[in-house]
Amino acid sequence: MRPVELWRGEIARLAWGGKGLARSEDGRLLLLGSPLALFPGEEVEAEVHWKARHGEGKVIRWIKKDPRRVPAGCPVAATCGGCDLWEAGEAAAELKKTMAADLLHRQLPEITNWRYLPAPADARRHRIQLHWDGKALGYHARGSHQLVPVAGCPIAADDLSAAIPRLQEAIQGKLLPQRPQRWELATGTPAGRVVALDEKKGVWLLEPDGWHRDDAEMIETFQDFTLRHRAGGFFQVSPPWAVAAFRAVLEDWDLKGATLYDLYGGVGLFSALLGNRFQRRVLVEYDIAAVEWAKKNLDPMALASECIASDVGKWLPENLGAPEDLILLDPPRAGLEPEVAAKLMSAMAETMVLVGCDGAAFCRDIQRLSPAWKLVDLAVLDLFPLTPHVECVGLLKRLRAMSHEL
Ligand SMILES: C[S@@+](CC[C@H](N)C(=O)[O-])C[C@H]1O[C@@H](n2cnc3c(N)ncnc32)[C@H](O)[C@@H]1O
Repeated sequence: MRPVELWRGEIARLAWGGKGLARSEDGRLLLLGSPLALFPGEEVEAEVHWKARHGEGKVIRWIKKDPRRVPAGCPVAATCGGCDLWEAGEAAAELKKTMAADLLHRQLPEITNWRYLPAPADARRHRIQLHWDGKALGYHARGSHQLVPVAGCPIAADDLSAAIPRLQEAIQGKLLPQRPQRWELATGTPAGRVVALDEKKGVWLLEPDGWHRDDAEMIETFQDFTLRHRAGGFFQVSPPWAVAAFRAVLEDWDLKGATLYDLYGGVGLFSALLGNRFQRRVLVEYDIAAVEWAKKNLDPMALASECIASDVGKWLPENLGAPEDLILLDPPRAGLEPEVAAKLMSAMAETMVLVGCDGAAFCRDIQRLSPAWKLVDLAVLDLFPLTPHVECVGLLKRLRAMSHEL
């Protein structure tokens, strides 16, 4: 391994993921990480490993700080691996927009009309993953499996944060399993009822007198619908803010038609959000338990729905749908499987919405779909405050349909 060298210089710009980009004196590119946000224009000292054509390293000291930098609002911000933007303070939203702009400029240069929805100040996580190492409960340190003990978490809903010491006490008091493992704490919407879930899917509800075995049902109530799901299954991390953001974007696009294909549909969030704007819904999801919940969730809404337990790639036919249908895809972080993107080329529906929680995978999928689908609008949502992650929601139109409109 090459030795570490000290480097001093200025951060030229921010790249996707929050890394600072700089140039060495001989013109080589430098990619610098920092535990607590970087601002373009800051002068830093960094430890750098030089590779053949570029260097990678981490900032260890600031020589000139951006005036917007503030003290972190969390005592373990420097070591905990959960949040990267604490010292950006109120400028965090602007920094994330800068990162997204860098990615979009490089990957989808033709898109210039995208918009960015910053997170409201009260957006909090309703689900956190902690680790018990046999002695303490906490998060993993940045880039390692070392434990950072925590007594609370300012990015979690208050009830979740307050449940952290209660969980620790119960494990230490041998009232809950003591073996070292990952624990999830989760609450529904509105936040309040807190459950703890261990790695063996045991679920306990926190009541005033302690933790009690629970049936694992989570309830998420929004202004016009309620969704239920099992603890530990997928649901949005900050549900009230995520639903408000998706609702704003989808209503703005005024989507309506015959059939909504809600692919990677989970327990029915997008089917519920688009409500009766479509005559019929077809939800496809491979988690059988989630599909059962989706049926139970959509039935009381009197929405004609077919919920199918299947891998999307296996289920997806060639020539899917008809011109007045909408195909909505919300795949996991890795984005669309190549076979799914290939089959979407022949779809007969003329409108598509693609949702992606990894910006780079989202851009790759838009490029893959581009022979048949044109991205006509894009919203970037800050659903994961204080981290470099964003959610992208794109509206696409079939190129054949667009040429008819011209
Ligand atoms: C990002 S989540 C979206 C869920 C839902 N749209 C929501 O917002 O609540 C992705 C969902 O796709 C499901 N999934 C992942 N890979 C899949 C596949 N190959 N076929 C079908 N479903 C899949 C997961 O179980 C998960 O529920």
